[in-house]
Amino acid sequence: MLHNFVTDKKAELKIDGKTYYLPIIVGSEGEKAVDIRTLRTESGYITMDSGYMNTGSCGSEITYLDGEKGILNYRGYTIKDLADNCTFVEVAYLLVHGSLPTRTELDEFGSLLTSFGMIHEDLIHFFDHFPPNSSPMSILSSMVNSLSNFYAEMKGDPLENIDKMAARLISKIRTIAAFSYRKSLGQPLVYPNHDYSYCANFLNMMFDSPVKPYEINEEIVSALNKLLILHADHEQNCSTSTVRLVGSARVNLYASISAGISALWGPLHGGANEAVIHMLNDIYKTGGNFKKYVERAKNPTDPFRLVGFGHRVYKNYDPRAQIIKEACDKMLKSLGMSDDPLLDIAKELEDVALRDDYFIERNLYPNVDFYSGIIYRAIGIPSNMFTVMFALGRLPGWIAQWKEMWDDPNWRIGRPRQIYVGPKQRPFIPIEVRKE
Ligand code: CMC
Repeated sequence: MLHNFVTDKKAELKIDGKTYYLPIIVGSEGEKAVDIRTLRTESGYITMDSGYMNTGSCGSEITYLDGEKGILNYRGYTIKDLADNCTFVEVAYLLVHGSLPTRTELDEFGSLLTSFGMIHEDLIHFFDHFPPNSSPMSILSSMVNSLSNFYAEMKGDPLENIDKMAARLISKIRTIAAFSYRKSLGQPLVYPNHDYSYCANFLNMMFDSPVKPYEINEEIVSALNKLLILHADHEQNCSTSTVRLVGSARVNLYASISAGISALWGPLHGGANEAVIHMLNDIYKTGGNFKKYVERAKNPTDPFRLVGFGHRVYKNYDPRAQIIKEACDKMLKSLGMSDDPLLDIAKELEDVALRDDYFIERNLYPNVDFYSGIIYRAIGIPSNMFTVMFALGRLPGWIAQWKEMWDDPNWRIGRPRQIYVGPKQRPFIPIEVRKE
């Protein structure tokens, strides 16, 4: 696919008086790249790019993102159209299969998800052996990794079974997430129910009780659908790149996704949604003085950052944050919870930060995580499960990216280079003569 976008134009790079001609690639939305793959062989030079700020690792047909204009599209559809009109299952199908499902395709995909909802009973025993207060992210990552031992279709060409594996994973991750929560409370497990939709089923598994049946609220189901859709893919972010990098060594889908879950755990990545709620709570408990937190975030000697602000690629308002903010207002109103003090603090904080030169100069806007925790909290999801919710949403994107990587004619094992800056080669010193 990428080779179709190589143009006749060449970039010229002059080093030590010699000119190298490097192919120019222009993507379908006009993004431009200089292809440097042959540079080292031809010149002996590599390019340095710590944090991959300016490095394209692949061509992809899945997600288009323009951070300057605040655009996010999955398979060509805007995130707003998808969030306004689709269920999460429809979007999962779109990401994995490349096109929106027809009614029949959606029904078939939905039936697969329903039939794969249970997890092997032997896997359920695993939950008993995590110590109390284990992180739900570590449980999720371990359990997803273990799935490869239980589901045999990983053997052979995985692309032959990818539809089945995708449905299996998307369905089972929801059960694993809900079971880990129930286990952490010491409460009986609630099995998936064939009569419920994807999101309603998850909520039921989380909150139903033998003594107090859970009532499905359509407003909550709709907000959850939106949140999962907004998280479903975000091109080559840290966890997705991890999934691709691990998978590039020809590791199975479950193990690759398990690595992605670990990457997402980090507070600078998916862990930020939990950190936002802790920050808003701290501000609330200490009298609501959010300006003090803004000042701390601006202080170069203080490591504190305003969590939920800033993004590596969005240098404009994160389009997901806008949709989440509206969904948050709507849901809290319909639940009669619109006087949530944390929501008030979040809005005031946003207002102050958006008018502050420090944030303006650095293009720091609220990101997807700024408001999502407020919705999760209103739904009843505990803060240590917020990043698990992010993983549930991101899963179809990871699967689509892994599938694309596996099938890519340009595939190579991921292997960055480095510039060595350690000691020059030196004589070995036997232990007897080493100075204490
Ligand atoms: N609060 C205060 N200052 C900030 C913030 C923040 N949240 N984010 C960036 N800056 C400053 C940073 O100190 C630096 O200032 P200076 O140029 O004076 O040194 C400048 O802005 C550029 O920051 P950076 O760290 O070079 O930017 P980055 O692209 O490497 O980092 C980020 C992106 C998301 C890690 C960062 O903005 C951050 O730490 N934000 C808070 C954590 C957060 O909300 N993460 C969720 C990201 S969205 C969901 C996801 O992708 O998982």
